[in-house]
Parts: sequence; C-alpha cells; structure tokens
Amino acid sequence: MTIITLDTPSAKPLLDWYDRHHRDLPWRVSPGMAARGIKPDPYHVWLSEVMLQQTTVQAVKPYFEKFLQRWPEVTDLAAAENDAVMAAWAGLGYYARARNLKKCAEAVAKEHGGAFPDTEEGLKSLPGIGDYTAAAVAAIAFNRQAAVMDGNVERVISRLYAIETPLPAAKPAMKEKVALLTPAARPGDFAQAMMDLGATICTPKRPACSLCPFRGACEALKLSDPELFPVKAAKKEKPVRYGAAFVAVTGDGEILLRRRIDSGLLGGMTEVPTTAWTARIDGETSAAAAPFEAAWQACGTVTHVFTHFELRLSIWRAAIATKIGADGWWEPVTNLEAQALPTVMKKAIAAAIPLAFKTSKG
Ligand code: ADE
Repeated sequence: MTIITLDTPSAKPLLDWYDRHHRDLPWRVSPGMAARGIKPDPYHVWLSEVMLQQTTVQAVKPYFEKFLQRWPEVTDLAAAENDAVMAAWAGLGYYARARNLKKCAEAVAKEHGGAFPDTEEGLKSLPGIGDYTAAAVAAIAFNRQAAVMDGNVERVISRLYAIETPLPAAKPAMKEKVALLTPAARPGDFAQAMMDLGATICTPKRPACSLCPFRGACEALKLSDPELFPVKAAKKEKPVRYGAAFVAVTGDGEILLRRRIDSGLLGGMTEVPTTAWTARIDGETSAAAAPFEAAWQACGTVTHVFTHFELRLSIWRAAIATKIGADGWWEPVTNLEAQALPTVMKKAIAAAIPLAFKTSKG
C-alpha cells in the first residue's frame, strides 16, 4: 500500500484545481473540451507557445487570433510572404522569433508533410524550437511526459521545494523537480496548470497561498515567506545607448520609412531613419545627423528597454513641402498600422506625431 503524506508533493491536487480553475485561453483545449473528444491542434499550441515566450497572455491573444485568421494552417503560414509575417508580428517584440516562426512553418510543410513531429527530440530538430517550446508542444499537443519549465513554473517549483540556489544557476535542479512531479497521465494539463497557478495564485508578490492546491506541501510556506523565492542572482544594470530618430512628414501626410538589414537587432523590421545606437554620451543625437537638411524640431526623448541595453532616442520631426529623395519609401501616416514597425519605432513616431497610432496599444 502506498502512503501519501500530506506534504509529499503530488500532481493530483493541482490537476483537480486546474479542472475547476483553469483559464479559458483561445489556444487551449480545456478539460471540458477534452472530455468531449476535442484534441489540441499542434499548430495552435506551437504558435501560442512561441508567441508567449517573453510576452504576456493578454498581449498575445489578439495576435494569436489575427495569425489564425490569416493563416489557418501551418502550410498557409509556410506559404506566406516574409514581410507579411513580420508586419503581423510587429509589436510582439523579440523579432528573431517571427523569422524562426516562418522558417519552422516551412520546415514542417516541406520536410514533415505539414504535420509537426510528436516527440521532444523531433520538435527540437525544427528551426527556432528550443528546450522550452519542444517540451511544451510535446506535452500539450501530444500528451508526452515532458518537463515544461517557464518563469511561472520556476516560481512555483522554487517555492514548493524552497530552493535556495539563486536563478539562473538553479534551473537544472528545478527542471529535475518538475520532471519528477510531471505525471504520465495528463502531462499537458499538468504543464498548463503549473503555468496558471504561477500566473493567478503563486504570483511574484502577495501570493494567494490559502487558495493554493500545494499549500499542504509548500516548503516556502512552511518557512513563512514564499515571496523570498525564487532567489535571484543580483542583476547587473543595463548599459545605456544613445541615438536619434528622424520623423519626416510631407504636406500630404506621408512619412519617410526604411527597412533595417535582415541580420541583428530588429532585423528586417521597418524604422524611421535613425543614427547608429552608441554607448557614447557624445554620440550623434542632434539634427546634424539627419538624413537630409530640413527644419528639424526636437520632440523629446524616447526610452526603450531591450534585453541587453536601454536605448535613449532623441526624436526629431520635420515638415517637408515635397518628398525628398532618400533611402527608403514614403508611407501615408494613415497606413502605419500595416507596417512592420517594432514598438520602439511606434514610440518614436508617436513622440513626433501624437495621433499616429490612434487605435494601437503597441
Ligand atoms: N504561458 C506560456 N504558455 C502557456 C500556456 N500554454 N498556458 C498558459 N500560460 C502560458
């Protein structure tokens, strides 16, 4: 006979909690849907997991719906124009994900007959699919017993076991714990339950421990302060880079845009002319660095935080009587929503033309 003591962590209470309290998400097959025989669509699962890396559920929802409307099957996405995919992705950030998304769809269409591989190993062989996405898709779409760990899961597991080693060094130990806890039955629901628990109950601040299905087992709760976990290595301050961006507008309401080179940060995305971004405080941030002479007016500074540095862009605006020959193209301001403009560029344009993105939240 197996004796389960109250404080032995088991997946069962979490799965029971998930059955009642799961979030309804557009890419998710809920336990009720599964009971009616509905199966997860690997394309939906993969698309949502790629979008959800580094981006919140709320931000992802409209993008997920838009992508499915435009490209209902992975083969449609494989056949899409690169620039159309980049434009549809604009605002979600981390644009290498969009480039890899397209490459991955092509590989699935061409090398796998339009069907995603159904194992972690097979999934990892595809472009842009790393450990996290492979495990998440294997578990959620194909019911494989894969250990899925993202930021929410790290927080839950670090508290459940009161892991003292700071992140990121603790990741391998955390993953072992997740693997031990992941059940053979319903591993996909278990992974999603851990994520929902982290997002709604086991929150970074003021976790709702009295509602938690792990409250009888949680080591951090026993020690009295779950907020102390996960322990994190001290963060280094981000370096600051400086530059200038130039918003030129014609009397007809057209704005000068250009395309960034394909490689590197924001590769292949659209931008207004900008200087190089340099760490030198005496770098080119004045109107002297503009792509052509005009009556450039200062419109303040826009700050944007990237993964490895903080950017401070001085914004300049000029009203141009006629289109000036310059690298790039002139786009009606009314058509900016359809462009592959990353958020930093939307901020830059909005600083110069406050009503440019009336309907956009990006
Ligand atoms: N975050 C990343 N993937 C998720 C998922 N499948 N469900 C809920 N939150 C998530």
